[in-house]
Amino acid sequence: MDNSSDNSRDSFSSRFAVIAAVAGSAIGLGNIWRFPYVAGENGGGAFLIIYLLFVFAIGIPVMTSEFVIGRAGQKNPYGSFRKLAPGQPWYLIGIMGVAAAFMILAFYTTVSGWTLEYFYQTLTGNLAGKNDSELTLMFDEFLQGSYRPVIWFLVFMGFTGFIILSGVKNGIERYTKMLMPILFVLLIALCIRSVTLEGSMAGLNFLFYPDFSKITPKVILEALGQAFFSLSIGMGTLITYGSYINKSENLGSSAMAVSIADTMIAVIAGVAIFPAVFALGGSPASGTGLVFIVLPGIFQKMPLGQVFQLIFFSLLSVAALTSTISVLEVIVAYLAEELKMTRRKATIAATLMVSVLGIVTVLSMGSLRNFTIAGKNIFGMLEFLTSNIMLPLGGLFIVIFIGWSFSPQRTKDELTNDGKLKAGYLPVYMFIVRFVAPVAIAMVFLYSLGILKL
Ligand code: PFF
Repeated sequence: MDNSSDNSRDSFSSRFAVIAAVAGSAIGLGNIWRFPYVAGENGGGAFLIIYLLFVFAIGIPVMTSEFVIGRAGQKNPYGSFRKLAPGQPWYLIGIMGVAAAFMILAFYTTVSGWTLEYFYQTLTGNLAGKNDSELTLMFDEFLQGSYRPVIWFLVFMGFTGFIILSGVKNGIERYTKMLMPILFVLLIALCIRSVTLEGSMAGLNFLFYPDFSKITPKVILEALGQAFFSLSIGMGTLITYGSYINKSENLGSSAMAVSIADTMIAVIAGVAIFPAVFALGGSPASGTGLVFIVLPGIFQKMPLGQVFQLIFFSLLSVAALTSTISVLEVIVAYLAEELKMTRRKATIAATLMVSVLGIVTVLSMGSLRNFTIAGKNIFGMLEFLTSNIMLPLGGLFIVIFIGWSFSPQRTKDELTNDGKLKAGYLPVYMFIVRFVAPVAIAMVFLYSLGILKL
């Protein structure tokens, strides 16, 4: 992925590298920060069921479709659509994807900056011994302070740009292979501590016992948005990565493997968080600060907790980084291929532009927090618009493209590698992209707008 000329397009080195890169994009703050806080605000168990349904019935087919488009098109999302459907407006999906990439980077890197702050605060011993309300206060004061979150945001944005510049293959791939399994083990350790706290059962109940009376149009839209956000789908990130996937890889099974891993990590993060929330007396609906307040609370109750906490926040930053680079890559691939910039210039330009929007976004959690539109600050607005609107809308058009516009034979060729692989799932997949996914996404939109009533 570190090529700079068009005709020697780079590709991932092995099947493992593909899965690692796509999983690196999918697994990140969306699983560990966003899933618990959104599930917490939307009723827990019932949200989880709808989310799982969306992942399997819509998410995996959309991911597979993105791979098909990217590998068939061999370009960034805009360029791929131009090539596969010349003279038709499908390329607008690519433009919306680039716009979404800017917006997501602005708030996602903000939260990534928080992980650096928490790493730093652990290092200096400032989190040790604090109770729940002190931790809440600390989080709030950090955000209000404004300049620290801005610095951390810029540091993280710098890392992201730097890695895109220095080539993804040699650097990041090697580290993530080693580091992500450690993050997984730490999450499991957190789960064990969390569920063995006194009073933790209420948390497991909250997460796994569905109270269907809590389902509202908002809950359904949030579950759809979270499924898209967590899987990195709907904005062409995986079209871009798909264009780097070797012709001999199995697209369908890669999509399946990554989606299952991604979903497992989200559920495991939930099991780490909610029992502790209830045991330590917090509220599951504490919003964006949830994991930053609850996790330090759990670490305090573990032997060697501060050491584990240090490792945890550093790995969480790495998990965030493998996601931010995948988002920045969307913009860079677009600028490099369509506006004929060098990758270097494209990376610098994109990083600078995102930084401007990002600083405003960081401040919207602090000194600008009273500036709101429809009850949301800029951070909340960007998060809502991208996850709940732009990604599902992108996904809707992606499945319609594959289901109704693109040649079924070419889709089959991509999924079977020109007949070399069996793809027994093909009829089910085609049925989903033609009917199930478009109807379901459209219904969720109509339902949440109040146009459709169940
Ligand atoms: N899937 C990432 C996460 O769960 O942290 C976030 C993300 C990455 C969203 C890439 C969208 C995207 F294109």
